[in-house]
Amino acid sequence: MNKINSIDEYHEEYAKSVSDPERFWAEKAETFSWHKKWNEVLEWDFHGPSVKWFKGAKLNITENCLDRHLENNGDKVAILWEPNNPNESSIEITYTELHSRVCAFSNVLKRNGAKKGDRICLYMPMTPELAIATLACARIGAVHSVVFAGFSARSLEDRINDATCNIVVTADGGFRGEKIIGLKNIVDKALENCPSIEKCIVLKRTNEEVEMKSGRDVWLHEELDRVDDVCPAEIMDSEDMLFVLYTSGSTGKPKGVVHTCGGYMVYAEYSFRNVFQYRDEDIYWCTADIGWITGHTYIVYGPLLAGATTVMFEGVPSYPDAGRFWDICDKHKINIFYTAPTAIRALQACGIDFVNKHELSSLRVLGSVGEPINEEAWHWYNDEIGKGRCPIVDTWWQTETGGIMISPLAGLTSLKPSYATLPLPGIQPCLVDADGNEILGNDVQGNLCIKFPWPSMIRTTYGDHKRCKDVYFSAYEGKYFTGDGCRRDEDGFYRITGRVDDVINVSGHRFGTAEIEAAIDEHENVVETAVVGYPHEIKGQGIYAYAICHDPKVDMTSFIQEINKTVTEIIGPIAKPDKIQIVHGLPKTRSGKIMRRILRKIAEGDVSNLGDTSTLLDPSVVEEIKTGAGLV
Ligand code: WT7
Repeated sequence: MNKINSIDEYHEEYAKSVSDPERFWAEKAETFSWHKKWNEVLEWDFHGPSVKWFKGAKLNITENCLDRHLENNGDKVAILWEPNNPNESSIEITYTELHSRVCAFSNVLKRNGAKKGDRICLYMPMTPELAIATLACARIGAVHSVVFAGFSARSLEDRINDATCNIVVTADGGFRGEKIIGLKNIVDKALENCPSIEKCIVLKRTNEEVEMKSGRDVWLHEELDRVDDVCPAEIMDSEDMLFVLYTSGSTGKPKGVVHTCGGYMVYAEYSFRNVFQYRDEDIYWCTADIGWITGHTYIVYGPLLAGATTVMFEGVPSYPDAGRFWDICDKHKINIFYTAPTAIRALQACGIDFVNKHELSSLRVLGSVGEPINEEAWHWYNDEIGKGRCPIVDTWWQTETGGIMISPLAGLTSLKPSYATLPLPGIQPCLVDADGNEILGNDVQGNLCIKFPWPSMIRTTYGDHKRCKDVYFSAYEGKYFTGDGCRRDEDGFYRITGRVDDVINVSGHRFGTAEIEAAIDEHENVVETAVVGYPHEIKGQGIYAYAICHDPKVDMTSFIQEINKTVTEIIGPIAKPDKIQIVHGLPKTRSGKIMRRILRKIAEGDVSNLGDTSTLLDPSVVEEIKTGAGLV
C-alpha cells in the first residue's frame, strides 16, 4: 500500500496527501507495529512552533526495524559491512543477529547507567557497532547524538555539553584509507571539559594503545561478555525524542536538530521505499557516514524499517584507489547506489580507467544527495556509472527535514539534470519573494519554504526552542524556511540553486561562515576574518577567508599551516580554508556590517561588477582586495 508504482499513481497520491493529509498519513502509518494507535494524526502550529504527529501513539522504532522482520525474514542480511581494507573480510549480519546484538548492546548501555531520556553521544568509525549502538539507544529510549568522527575534540566537547550527554561510545581508533584516526585520544581530550559524562564505552577496532580511565572507561567487548541478548523495547510516545543531530546555521554554534519517534519512522520508510523504488531482494548502498542525517535516515532507519539489506562502508572512495566504489558495487552486486556529487566529481577527475575495469551491471538506481549536482557530473554519473540505463534520483532535503523532500521517484518521474524535480507526497513546497509573498505559477524563482507539516520535520533545537522558531519559522509568516533558493520551471519542476543565507556547503558538509571565522580568529595574529564560499570544481564550494592580521608581514607557508591547525583543532580538518587572503581592511557598512556580497564576487573572480559600494565606510579597501594582493 505504501509503494507508488507509476507516475499517475504519484499524482493521485500527491493530490490525496494535500486534500486530506491526516487520512493520507494515517494510512501509511497503519503498516507499522504500534503498541497503541494515535488519538489524533496531526496537531500543529507553525508559530510556536509545535508539531505533533500520531499524537498519543506508542511504539518503539527498533521493533519496527528488527523484531517485526524476524518471523519471515530473520535470515535475511540486514547489514552488509565492507571494511576499509579490501583484504579484510566483509561481514554479513542477518536480521536475527542484528536483533540479538542490538539487545546485547542495549543491556551494556543499561549496565552502565543509561535510562530512557538520557542523551548518549556516539563518536565512532563506520563499523557495524555504530549502527548497533544507534539502534540500542533507540531500543532503551535514550536519545542518540551521533557526532561525525572527523570533528575535533572541541566540536565533540561542545556537542556533548549542549545535550548534557552522560555516556559516550567510541573506538580506540578508526581506519580511513591509509590513516588511523585516534578517536579515543580525541574523546579523552574532549572529556576534560565534559562534566556530565559518567561512562565511556570503547570498541576495540585498530588495537591502538589507549588510556583507560578507571571508573569511567570500559571496553565494549568485556561489557558484552557480562550481558545477555534479551532486552524488551522501551515503549515510547510518538513525540518522544529519538535523536539529536548537530548542524550548522548562519549564526552561532551548531544547533541540535531534534527528531521524534513516530513521524520520523513513518516518513523514513515511506520515502526510502518510494524514492529508490526499493524491491525486496535489492542490495542497497548509501555511501554517507552515519554521522550525518543521510546516514541516519538512509543507512540505518529507512532501509531497516523496509527490511532491506543495507551496505555500510568503513573506508573512503580513494582507497586503495579511485576504483573502490565500483569495486564494491561489483563485489556485492549493488542494485541501488546513493552518493554525493562531490564524490562523483572527485572520481570523475581520476579518469575513466578506474570505472572501466568494472562491470557495474547490477546497478539499477543511482542517487545523489547533499548539494546541487552540476550537469557535467550528472551526465558522467548517468553515462559512465549508470550506462544510461539507471535513473538518477537527485534528492533534496536537509538535516531538519529528516527525510527526502523533493526528488524524482526512480524510473517514474521524468528526469532533468540538476533538477530535484517534484515534491514527495505530503510535501508542500512554495517559493516566496523577499517580502514573504508566495510566488505562484511556473517559470519562477524564490526562496524555498514548506507550508504544511510533514511527519519527519524538525521539532525543536535542543535546549533552545526559541532558536528553532527564529531560524526556521520567523523569516516567513506561517512557513518553514529552508535557507535555500529555488527555481520552479515551466513544467513545475524544482531546481535548488543553493543557500541564500551564510551557510556554505563544502563537499556536502555544511558550515556557517561565522563558525569558521570564529575558529580562524583564534589564531593570535588574526584581528578579524570574513569567510565566504566560492565555486570549487570538486568540493562544490570552497572556503575563502579574508583575514586582517596584527602583523601582515608573515611567512605565508607557515601562516597557512597555522591557520589550518587552528581550524582543525576547533572544528575539524574538513573546515580548513582553501584560500586565505591577508587584507588591511574588510568592506563594512557605516553600521559595521561586513558586505559579504562584495567579498563573494571577488572570491568568485568576478571583480568587474561589484555593485554599489557607496554605502561602505571605506570604499578603498575594496580596491585593495580586488587586486588579489596578499592572496595565497
Ligand atoms: C543543505 C542541507 C540532507 C542531505 C545531506 C545534507 C543542500 C542537499 C541537495 C540537492 C541541491 C542540496 C541544500 C540543503 N542540499 N541536497 N539534492 N540539491 N542542494 O544535509 O547538511 O542538512 O544540508 O544541503 O542547500 O539546505 P544538510
